[in-house]
Amino acid sequence: MHLIVYLNNITYIRDIMKIGFLLGKDHKTLPLSELIALLEIYSLNGELTLLDNYGVLSHEGSIEKSELIDIVNNIVRRSAYINEGHIIIFQIEHSESLNKGLKLLTSRLLQFESKELLNLLNMDSSRDTFAIRVIKMNKRYSNENENISSMAIERIIGEIIRKKTNAKVNLKNPSKTIKIIISRDRIYVALLLEKRDKEYFNKNRPHLRAYFHPGCILPKLARGMVNLARLKENQILLDPFCGTGGFLIEGGFIGCKLIGCDIDENMINGTLLNLKSYKLENKIIDLKKINAQDVIPYLKSLGINEVDAIVTDPPYGISTSAKGSVEDIINNLGSILKNNGYMVFASFKKIYLENLKLKEIHELYIHKSLTRYIHIYKKE
Ligand SMILES: C[S@@+](CC[C@H](N)C(=O)[O-])C[C@H]1O[C@@H](n2cnc3c(N)ncnc32)[C@H](O)[C@@H]1O
Repeated sequence: MHLIVYLNNITYIRDIMKIGFLLGKDHKTLPLSELIALLEIYSLNGELTLLDNYGVLSHEGSIEKSELIDIVNNIVRRSAYINEGHIIIFQIEHSESLNKGLKLLTSRLLQFESKELLNLLNMDSSRDTFAIRVIKMNKRYSNENENISSMAIERIIGEIIRKKTNAKVNLKNPSKTIKIIISRDRIYVALLLEKRDKEYFNKNRPHLRAYFHPGCILPKLARGMVNLARLKENQILLDPFCGTGGFLIEGGFIGCKLIGCDIDENMINGTLLNLKSYKLENKIIDLKKINAQDVIPYLKSLGINEVDAIVTDPPYGISTSAKGSVEDIINNLGSILKNNGYMVFASFKKIYLENLKLKEIHELYIHKSLTRYIHIYKKE
């Protein structure tokens, strides 16, 4: 049973849990696509609404709140393009006037009993400290009539919550971060659950790895593509053009079993070195120097008939040399993909395959005359 009561433009939500995902702005389409893939991976269903770069999932399932929070934390930690996960406490509709919305927000906060507010924010005033952080979804509120700064909003709301809860403000290292998300026509008040480690991909840049070769995939894109392939822990990931192991590393980190091949022996040795340096060698099923044309008999020799997903970055003739028709090889890979499995690959032209269903193509602009296309195919 769900009950939504609309009163004075304030929506009270009962039995529907709302989760907010703050998506990165570094690409137009990949972050939302990755979020949809991760929601599928973790079987988290509900209605997803996108407000600029804020995805709101209204979850109506029977999952306990603590389990839901664990899932959200895992989604954010595993993602490439999802910056934060929130649990939304309440929302205010403001019919496109920020000032009106802020008035409604402050008066609503003032109406709360202290205990009720502490409960909603999951706060213990004797232990917890807090900070308010405003996220404006776009800059249109900076016009003359609506020129209230994020800092001013943080101060006003912070003061109300401090007085109501008696909890201390800690701007540097709060135990609770309360997010005020301001979008075109509504304001969400949410509790920050998890933040993606923004340093992770930086620290793992390919040239810092044990083995490096130009032309390798960047870890953030590699992680995003592995996620788009809907891989779960213990499932088999195949990269038939594995190079230095960019996809296998990210797959290994999320607990997949790995098969990689490459026509160049140095790459196979390099991939092994990289996986070892990340202590992922226990994830390897096999790595082998072969022509990807022969991947089907190769898998058979391992006693494997199909893999859960294929994620790859075939040679494109600029910094890698193509041996055999890449399109023919990729076309044939469908036969070793399990039903409902995904093949995700990057290339410098759009490639249309016969045996698999094209779900999405994302364009990555490199420079004026070079665009990379991320293809998502599914075996249906
Ligand atoms: C773009 S690179 C892959 C980069 C890789 N994703 C990484 O992170 O390092 C393409 C790779 O395909 C390999 N290759 C080229 N032709 C091949 C073939 N016919 N069979 C298998 N591998 C091939 C090249 O040796 C090269 O390592």
